[in-house]
Amino acid sequence: MSSQDDLQTLVLTTLDKQGVIEDTTYLKTADGSPVDQLAVLGALNSLRSKDMVDYKSIEREVWTLTEEGQELAESGSHEARVFDAVPAGPEGITIPDLQAKLGKSASIGQGKAFKNKWINKKPPNYLVRIVDSIVDQTKIDLQQLQSTGTLPDAKLLADYKKRKLADKQKVFAYSVSKGTDFSLEIKKEATDVTYEMLQSGEWKNANFKKYNFDAVGVAPSGGALHPLMKVRQEFREIFFEMGFQEMPTNRFVESSFWNFDALFQPQQHPARDAHDTFFIKDPATTDRFPKDLMERIKVVHENGGDTGSIGYNYHWKQEEAEKLILRTHTTAVSSYMLYKLAQETKDSGFRPAKYFSIDRVFRNESVDATHLAEFHQIEGVIADKNLSLADLIGFMDVFFKKMGMDKIRFKPTYNPYTEPSMEIFSWHDGLKTWVEIGNSGMFRPEMLLPLGLPPDVRVIAWGLGLERPTMVKYGISNIRDLLGHKVNLALIHDNAVPRLDKKMGKELIGINLEQPAEESTKEKVSAAVQGLVNKVENMVVN
Ligand code: PHE
Repeated sequence: MSSQDDLQTLVLTTLDKQGVIEDTTYLKTADGSPVDQLAVLGALNSLRSKDMVDYKSIEREVWTLTEEGQELAESGSHEARVFDAVPAGPEGITIPDLQAKLGKSASIGQGKAFKNKWINKKPPNYLVRIVDSIVDQTKIDLQQLQSTGTLPDAKLLADYKKRKLADKQKVFAYSVSKGTDFSLEIKKEATDVTYEMLQSGEWKNANFKKYNFDAVGVAPSGGALHPLMKVRQEFREIFFEMGFQEMPTNRFVESSFWNFDALFQPQQHPARDAHDTFFIKDPATTDRFPKDLMERIKVVHENGGDTGSIGYNYHWKQEEAEKLILRTHTTAVSSYMLYKLAQETKDSGFRPAKYFSIDRVFRNESVDATHLAEFHQIEGVIADKNLSLADLIGFMDVFFKKMGMDKIRFKPTYNPYTEPSMEIFSWHDGLKTWVEIGNSGMFRPEMLLPLGLPPDVRVIAWGLGLERPTMVKYGISNIRDLLGHKVNLALIHDNAVPRLDKKMGKELIGINLEQPAEESTKEKVSAAVQGLVNKVENMVVN
């Protein structure tokens, strides 16, 4: 194959000689070999960008020789070989001798040689010539087909195809004409205005290369979001869509007070043990929490105060509440936010609130394929008068449906801060089983009343992990491949910006784009992508 420069020159000189090139299939290099059409296209595009040529693609059917056809075109047909192998004169040759001399050609060529009346049988088993000379039409035909891509006689073509000597193929080629700036000389084009060009004034006469707006851009090397952050954004959007406000979750280090005590979690509860919770060494404590609230909480823990409860019946210690820890759940933030809500609405009268948060929490756990010492929690909280368990269940149904989980079940459980409490299960279609996805409940009066909320205010809340849905969506089976020091950064970099999921939205369907997809699936994907593009365009327009 010629180099690009040679090909461009070939196109230009041919155009100069002939005015047009009807079909680039017949372009031949100086040594007579045909040119590769893909290379021709490259040359044509480059010349067209300079307006030196114009071209149209053409599609044709051409006949080409099979490997056997090529061999016959070169060395003659089987029947001609048979004729050649039979000596002139009355003696002839025995069939076994012919077989020994020609091999395969002997058996294939004999029939045709008989039919052409070139040879005949002589008993007992001899073959003799019955003409002096022959014309090997097959060889001639095949040679013609090879150089022109066809034969005038369609029946002949069909016959050669049947004999597996020739076959039809679609070829792509181009018809080329001169462009407005046609010339035999390829001018060098500048791609940049350089300092030197500005200095010398050369820029005034320079020939600048045109922008190619069809070029595929270079993939940007930065700015990839971690899958967890992408799924977090999807959850955030569901919450915003449903009128929730995001809680500030920037305090990874929290006091035991907000993380446990304010949640009516007794101070001797096993979760407050170093086996489950990371304690901060320096500083180890804080007393920065409201002391009047602390007093109310102390009383409720000890004897229930005026909440109607009898409390836990133990001596509550401030030192225990002062211990600094890495928060073990985002409910620490929820308790603080509910206190703030009570404070803000103390005088003006209560207003309902819907809060959510999605952020990191820490637990002193041994790490395995499904557990890490740090992970992300998604938490939702709704505070209003007269809320009931039915509201929680109804709300969960809507919320999880938006996430693509439409079969939800609940199972009673225990949390120190909620009563009733329910574990949330979702039907997993792949595993054909119910999978635990979260925990929920109605905050206890022992928690809400000390915070200062009016007695008729009910708060429903739920929490779930962010890692599990992310692993499902991204097909990751080991949590350590998703988070932590063993994560392959390519996972983050190589994940597509949009991800198409089953049931994530009406227009989305279940395809993992990294897997080779079937043709029909590809169509669905492109339809879905087009839908998304339209949606985004509408968003931009509106
Ligand atoms: N904090 C709970 C957990 O860590 C989740 C939860 C939040 C439960 C709110 C009930 C209400 O599992």
